[in-house]
Amino acid sequence: MVVDKKSNLNTPLHVAVIMDGNGRWATSRGLQRLIGHRRGVDRVRDVVRVCPDYGVKYLTLFAFSTENWKRSEEEVVGLMRLFKRYIQAEATKLMADKVRVRFIGDRTRLDKDLRDLMLALEQQTAENDHLHMTVAINYGGRDELKRATQAIARQVQAGTLDPSEIDEVTISQNLDTSFLPDPDLVIRTSGEFRTSNFLPWQSTYSEYAFVQEEWPDFTPGIFARVLEDVSSRERRFGRVAAQ
Ligand code: IPE
Ligand code: IPE
Ligand code: MG
Repeated sequence: MVVDKKSNLNTPLHVAVIMDGNGRWATSRGLQRLIGHRRGVDRVRDVVRVCPDYGVKYLTLFAFSTENWKRSEEEVVGLMRLFKRYIQAEATKLMADKVRVRFIGDRTRLDKDLRDLMLALEQQTAENDHLHMTVAINYGGRDELKRATQAIARQVQAGTLDPSEIDEVTISQNLDTSFLPDPDLVIRTSGEFRTSNFLPWQSTYSEYAFVQEEWPDFTPGIFARVLEDVSSRERRFGRVAAQ
């Protein structure tokens, strides 16, 4: 299926994805959960490849939440290793495809090797603008709002910001996502109907698409179907329907 970006004005520009279901995909096949995560990385490659054709300029992926530390050490270590391997293996291709990569989330809890790789990839891809890819690692919406509040409080304490000047823009600018437009669409795979602490401030007016398929089964065809469905929705932003 092809999404014709020229004829459809409502194609989402910024798509955020809660990539869920890797573990269940694996265990239902008698495989280790980490095999599911590995298969999930293959789907990330596919989605990144088709975004420009589908008219998507910003892609934000939820890879690891502030709550995911509660999983077994084996799974957490395996995921961190997978993030490192993805960055190392993918840098050349991301450069060739002109993808700019940035990360959101609290990096202080990540190990130095991973932090260094993340920073190097951000710097290496900084001039690319075919697709803006943002990966959320150790990201939690409440944690992000807490850190933003601390940053704003420090500006007030330093005397550079008056409390009466704090508005919605101030808050947006102090979030990890300050460089991003709000997501037009949030997709969650694996049939779960919740947001799990993903972009709470940014997604207040986003469209949501909940798909049954687990993330390792999320093909470009399914992505196209979701985009097509969302393109026909009318977003009113509190106004009344267009006449
Ligand atoms: C999503 O898949 C990836 C991460 C949260 C890291 P899950 O690992 O949550 O898979 P399920 O939901 O247990 O099947
Ligand atoms: C959300 O999935 C986090 C990521 C996709 C990285 P979870 O699997 O952690 O969410 P819950 O626990 O089902 O809400
Ligand atoms: Mg899950």
